[in-house]
Amino acid sequence: MSESKNPADSPESATQTQPSNSWPSATTSLFLILILPVITATLIYQLDSFDPAPLPYHELTRRLTRRAPAHNPRMLRGSERVGFGVLRGPEDVAYHSGSGLIYTGCEDGWLKRVKLNDSENPEFVVESWVNTGGRPLGLAFGLHNEVVVADADEGLLNVTSEGEVKLLTDEAEGVKFGITDGVDVAVDGTIYFTDASYKYNLKHFVWDFLEGRPYGRFMSYDSATKQTTVLVRDLYFANGVVVSPDQSHVIFCETPMRRCRKYYVQGDKKGSVETFIDQLPGLPDNIRYDGEGHYWIALSMAPTLAWDLAVRYPFIRKVMGIMEKYTGRPNVEKNGGVLAVDLDGNLISHYYDPGLSLVSSVIKIGNQIFCGSIFHPYMLRLNIQQYPTMAVA
Ligand SMILES: *[C@@H]1O[C@H](CO)[C@@H](O)[C@H](O)[C@H]1NC(C)=O
Ligand SMILES: *[C@@H]1O[C@H](CO)[C@@H](O)[C@H](O)[C@H]1NC(C)=O
Repeated sequence: MSESKNPADSPESATQTQPSNSWPSATTSLFLILILPVITATLIYQLDSFDPAPLPYHELTRRLTRRAPAHNPRMLRGSERVGFGVLRGPEDVAYHSGSGLIYTGCEDGWLKRVKLNDSENPEFVVESWVNTGGRPLGLAFGLHNEVVVADADEGLLNVTSEGEVKLLTDEAEGVKFGITDGVDVAVDGTIYFTDASYKYNLKHFVWDFLEGRPYGRFMSYDSATKQTTVLVRDLYFANGVVVSPDQSHVIFCETPMRRCRKYYVQGDKKGSVETFIDQLPGLPDNIRYDGEGHYWIALSMAPTLAWDLAVRYPFIRKVMGIMEKYTGRPNVEKNGGVLAVDLDGNLISHYYDPGLSLVSSVIKIGNQIFCGSIFHPYMLRLNIQQYPTMAVA
């Protein structure tokens, strides 16, 4: 692990000082520009009841960031937009190799299917398949041709091959899910999934980050007994889920902690939790296995100076919360991308771009990667043979 050497990331480049000219009415201007907003902000700050908690800064500082041995820092170069305008906020993407269809869940509630072949003509290849009535996020194929959907608003759903939507579960231990988020299905049919936060819903998810308390849970659902079991609680925004190819453990991502952990479901360590990978070079969302020895992790943004400060000082998150409430959030997300790691969690290759943010999922099909986004109105497709990562000196 080493400190990020990306110049765009360094605090120095963000705070260049300008030579100052003498100002005519300096005191008045200073008052208006500086003091007045400070007084107003202080008043609002004291009146506002929002109470963020400390986060473990020593673990989270971006100075401790792992670096992959190979990078493509301009992954937008060569990327194509698939389904532009038709796929709005395609959060997770899942490839059904039997039919050659990519499934994705959009912000309008539609599960859409994209035929790989003709992505140049999105009108003809994107099919609106089923509307869940909620906000589909994580997707996984079940054992009976169904699609299991983690729907942020509705809960865990079974969408049958006939297109019927059935609720599997939306609560555990008497606590309703707030943002049902990531899901995968084991070979034995057990469904593993996360609720990112039982306190906030998807519309208000940013408050979960700002508050900094662990309201997330990692759970399993057994369709034979209809039992929902909490496996790990007190998680910080529990997000993507993947079952290991040998079925011995399940990996889940904790977004603001910049880590993925593994939960053993078999063997001596059954029931125990270990770190799979931490100090990720970005905030992890969904994770998928490519069938070729690598997990692919979507990173919604790289940690920035602003992020560091927010993690370190709860009062900064409080100010951000007040801004969120009254003026809207400044757009600070950049250098989002995707990361390939091996089965032991070693970083292999990292694709990112300063102009890319809120990448929420990635799958690899042949030589191409397809990225979903919770925000953008398209999927990104990149041929990684033509636009590979390069070894970092
Ligand atoms: C595209 O579809 C055509 C006909 O359906 C098929 O012959 C061709 O192999 C497909 N191409 C790819 C790249 O899948
Ligand atoms: C989903 O429903 C189908 C059709 O009833 C059923 O065969 C399948 O087992 C269900 N899947 C789950 C995970 O409950």
